[in-house]
Amino acid sequence: MFEHLETLPPDPILGLMAAFRADPDPGKIDLGVGVYRDEQGETPVLDAVRKAEQRLLERQKTKTYVAAGGNAGFNQAMERLTLGDDHPALAASRVRTIQATGGCGALRLGAELLRVAAPDVVVHVSTPTWGNHVPLLSGAGIKLERYPYYDPATGGVRFAAMLEYLDKLPPRSVVLLHASCHNPTGADLSQIQWREVLDLVRRRELIPYLDMAYQGLGDGVTEDAFGVRLFARELPEALIAVSCSKNFGLYRERTGALHVVSSTPAAADAVLSQLVRIARTIYSMPPDHGAAIVQEILADRELREAWLAELGRMRDRILTLRRQTVEHLRKTCPARDFGFIERQKGMFSFLGVSVEQVRKLREQHHIYMTDDSRINIAGLRSESIPRFAQAVSQVLG
Ligand SMILES: Cc1ncc(COP(=O)(O)O)c(C=O)c1O
Repeated sequence: MFEHLETLPPDPILGLMAAFRADPDPGKIDLGVGVYRDEQGETPVLDAVRKAEQRLLERQKTKTYVAAGGNAGFNQAMERLTLGDDHPALAASRVRTIQATGGCGALRLGAELLRVAAPDVVVHVSTPTWGNHVPLLSGAGIKLERYPYYDPATGGVRFAAMLEYLDKLPPRSVVLLHASCHNPTGADLSQIQWREVLDLVRRRELIPYLDMAYQGLGDGVTEDAFGVRLFARELPEALIAVSCSKNFGLYRERTGALHVVSSTPAAADAVLSQLVRIARTIYSMPPDHGAAIVQEILADRELREAWLAELGRMRDRILTLRRQTVEHLRKTCPARDFGFIERQKGMFSFLGVSVEQVRKLREQHHIYMTDDSRINIAGLRSESIPRFAQAVSQVLG
């Protein structure tokens, strides 16, 4: 059965992680892996999460299965976190939610649903998009196409080109949009641009598939959900995949959800029944712990406030690092404008250097990033930024 199988090459990010671990230099800097890090370079368990876990451990009396749709309390709390307490789509009972194994699981469930609903569906993703979008969606048998998005010349969005592309799509094409903190570019749509995309999506009868993996890490919990809340309010249908990995720091607990907005409550019920069946055919029931933690935090005023404060500190740290990085690069590389790093949002930006220069940063300066020069801003520390800026100026020559 297996003798003819080829060994696949390892994921490049794993190679990068291994090279970083093996590097004995005490000043090495890891900007490759996409997890939040604090000023000590750690990815700690949030205080609110620890407290919620303690309460759960004391209270929990059984480990029997949760339902295929997941923890109903978590699903409801996530609907309110994603859409806001008084969202009209919630009031109209047009939203159904299924607990998922992280944002990846949510994206895959949504892809499977799309294939059931429309086997020939095409999903259009941004150029570039997060690398995992491709296997997660195409693994469900879905065809992917790409719309223009990032403009390396400005560090912003090629908005006119994006609209022009979307304006040619046939009805019921699916457009995957990053809700905020675009990965890998950090280039987000402004609120005015979200409204323009909304008009176009409505006019051309497109289906938005929103991926929100960084709610609260850009401008704020409400601000980062602007496009999601707008689209769910104004459009008959939308898919929204959300992740609790980054904003709750729950990475390994695999916690997320898929919200689907439908045109009527009856259509929404049908969608949920299909999602539950899809989940049953893949893994049957989701894991409990991460979702129970999130439910506990969101249901308790004190824990919720503590979590929002911790999230705010993570966000502020990223904003400060972005500002400090630009300040130092301005001094060390006066001929080049890195101001886009301060305008971009979330954990990632493209430094905009060549593969050769990425290699030099790694080999000569012990600074690790993926070959496309994506940097995880949270991998920097205030004290390492001057060295980073010097190294960039040296490889730029
Ligand atoms: C754009 C995007 N979507 C979704 C995810 C989902 O992550 P997870 O499955 O770890 O929740 C990530 C994580 O890096 C991401 O960057």
